[in-house]
Amino acid sequence: MLSRRKIFAAAVAVMLSALAFTPVYALDNGLARTPPMGWNSWNSFHCDVSAKLVEETADAMVTSGMKAAGYTYVNIDDCWLLKKRGRSGGLVPDPKKFPHGIKAVAAYVHRKGLKLGIYESAGATTCAGYPGSIGHEKQDAAQFARWGVDYLKYDNCGDYQGETYLQRYTAMRDALAQSGRPIVYSLCEWGNKAPWTWAQPVGNLWRTTQDITPRWETDQPVDQYPQGIMEILDQQAALTAAASHPGAWNDPDMLEVGNGYLTGDESRAHFSLWALLNAPLIAGNDLRSMSKEVRDILTNREVIAVDQDWGGRQGYRVSEDGNTQVWAKPMSDGSVAVILLNRRRGPVSIATTAQATGLKPAGSYRVRDLWKHTDSVSHGRIEATVGTHAVAMYRIWAGSKGTLEMAAKKE
Ligand code: GLA
Repeated sequence: MLSRRKIFAAAVAVMLSALAFTPVYALDNGLARTPPMGWNSWNSFHCDVSAKLVEETADAMVTSGMKAAGYTYVNIDDCWLLKKRGRSGGLVPDPKKFPHGIKAVAAYVHRKGLKLGIYESAGATTCAGYPGSIGHEKQDAAQFARWGVDYLKYDNCGDYQGETYLQRYTAMRDALAQSGRPIVYSLCEWGNKAPWTWAQPVGNLWRTTQDITPRWETDQPVDQYPQGIMEILDQQAALTAAASHPGAWNDPDMLEVGNGYLTGDESRAHFSLWALLNAPLIAGNDLRSMSKEVRDILTNREVIAVDQDWGGRQGYRVSEDGNTQVWAKPMSDGSVAVILLNRRRGPVSIATTAQATGLKPAGSYRVRDLWKHTDSVSHGRIEATVGTHAVAMYRIWAGSKGTLEMAAKKE
C-alpha cells in the first residue's frame, strides 16, 4: 500500500510538472506576437458601417502607405448585424449594410493582402443592442471562421446571464480555438476587473480603460466614459511591468489620431505614447480623407518600430514634475526610446539623463529624434523645449557604437 507521504510526494510532483509545462504568460494561439496594427470603424463612424466603408478603407490602407508601414487589420465594430438571429440561430449581417454578407467583404480585404476583424459582445446584447454571443459562442466562432474573419473584438455589454467575466471570456476563447481558424482575440472588458492580472492566457490583448474620446483631457473620473488621452495615460502608468508580453498586450483603446478636437501636436503625442506602451495601433480616423499631416503621423516608421519591438517590458513613466513627464522603454537592441511630455499649455523645457532612462553609463550617446528624423550626440543630458500638449521622442544608443554608426552614415 502507498504511504501517505508517497501519495503526497506524487501529488506535488504532478503539480510541479503541470506548472513547468503549462506556462500561462500568453494565449497559446501564436497570434499578435507584436501589437496588432490596423483600423476600426467605431471612433469615426459608430453605427454607420457598411461593406462600402470597409472596402474603401482597405483600398485607402494600401494607397496611403499604411499597409506598407505595417497596418493589417480592417475591423468592423458594432452594428454590422440584424437585431434578431436567423432561423438556425446564426448571426445575420444587415443586408442593407452588407448586401453580399461578411464573407464577400473578407474576400475583398484578403485580396488586398489585409485581414478582416469583426465585433461581438460577451453578453446577451452588444452595446448598441444587437444580439450578443453569450450562450452562442461555438456557433458564432464557427460562423466567423467560415466567413474568413481574422480578428474578434469581444465587448462587455448585455446581460451576463449569471456568468462570471472569466466564464464569459474563456468560453469565446475556447470556441475560437475550436473554430479551426487563427483569430486574434481582443478582450474589450474596459479594465473593469483588472484584466492585466488574469487575461494573459485568455486573450491576445485586453482593454485597460473605459472608451477613449478625441480630447487631450476630460477631467472625468478614471472609471467613467469618456476618457481623454491624458486620463488614459495616467491609468497605464499604474499597470504592472509584467502584464504585457508578445501575444498578450495591454490595450489603452483605439487611436484618435486625426479625430475630433486633437491638434497635430496632440495627435503626435498620443501616437508616440501609445507606441511606447506597446499598444495595439488601431487607427480610428477616416483613412479615405485624411490629411497629409495625419497620414505622416500614422506612418512614422521610426515610432512604429518602437511599438513593434519587445525589449522586455512596455514603456513606463520615469519621472513626473507637475505637468511634465519623462517616459522610457527598453528596446531589444539595447537602445532606449524616450518621450519628454508637456501636458500643459505653453512651451516648457524638459530634461532627463540617459542613465535615468535605463541606459548604461557612457562618454557619449547617439540621440535620434523620431519626429524630426535627425541625429545628435549627447554626453548624458537629454533636454528639449516642448510645446503645448506635445512630446519630443528619441531613441538613444549608449557609447561609441551608436555614435560611430551615425558618423559612418554621414560620410
Ligand atoms: C463599447 C466599446 C467601444 C465600442 C462600442 C460599440 O463602448 O468599448 O469600443 O466597441 O461599445 O457599441
